[in-house]
Amino acid sequence: SFVYTVVMALVLAFASVAAAEEKTYINGIDANYPPFAYVDKDGKPAGFDVDSMNWIAAKMGFKVVHKPMDWDGIVPSLLAKKIDMVCSGMSITDARKKQITFSEPYWTVSQVFVAKKDSKLSVDDVYKGKKKLGVQRGTSEADALQKQAPEKGWNFELRFYDSAPLAIEDVLNGRIDAAGMDILPAEDAAAKKPVKILGTFGEPEDFGVATRNEDTELRGKINEGYKLLMADPYWQQLKDKYLQK
Ligand code: ARG
Repeated sequence: SFVYTVVMALVLAFASVAAAEEKTYINGIDANYPPFAYVDKDGKPAGFDVDSMNWIAAKMGFKVVHKPMDWDGIVPSLLAKKIDMVCSGMSITDARKKQITFSEPYWTVSQVFVAKKDSKLSVDDVYKGKKKLGVQRGTSEADALQKQAPEKGWNFELRFYDSAPLAIEDVLNGRIDAAGMDILPAEDAAAKKPVKILGTFGEPEDFGVATRNEDTELRGKINEGYKLLMADPYWQQLKDKYLQK
């Protein structure tokens, strides 16, 4: 039993070293972006991206904490090391790639205009005749619409919001004619509120997890984790739960 005691002591010592080595990474999320990230009834972060990263963390041996924050400042927060990654419906764009490095893409979305359910607008109408168009601040769609407007002769008036639901609120109360956003939050809104999708605009975009350029170890774990997740039945369960009707 002396041998047993020594063996058990060694086992416990190794276990505690292994546990202590498990790193904790902070994932910055926009908690107003269902179904990718939101806060559930109990105040807990939830959504497709949150559940995906929790699974990947457990599989790859790290801990992840999801921290709700302003979307507009999320890349600066990543660079300032207030967070370690952004797994929260972020499009991989050339502009962002100048500052940060993305994981491999894990999802593709189209972008759509949303208007009141009884609206007579078409997608083309949004570009014509001084319409008021809402977008979330700091998004790829805000950038793209703003940049292309002069060359394409679009003369909508762009209004900026801190979240997609706030833009939807102004669609509902008539302050803006339409809002531009990714299709999934738009479908989420259309299922809950008297709004509808007018149609798509722009090009489909890939979502990826944003990391600091130098964090190759974390990025490797994320990429490996997604590979395992996509080969696991849980991936289909997540898609059924959050992304497909
Ligand atoms: N396509 C947009 C972007 O990446 C979506 C941003 C909104 N996503 C979010 N989690 N708020 O800029």
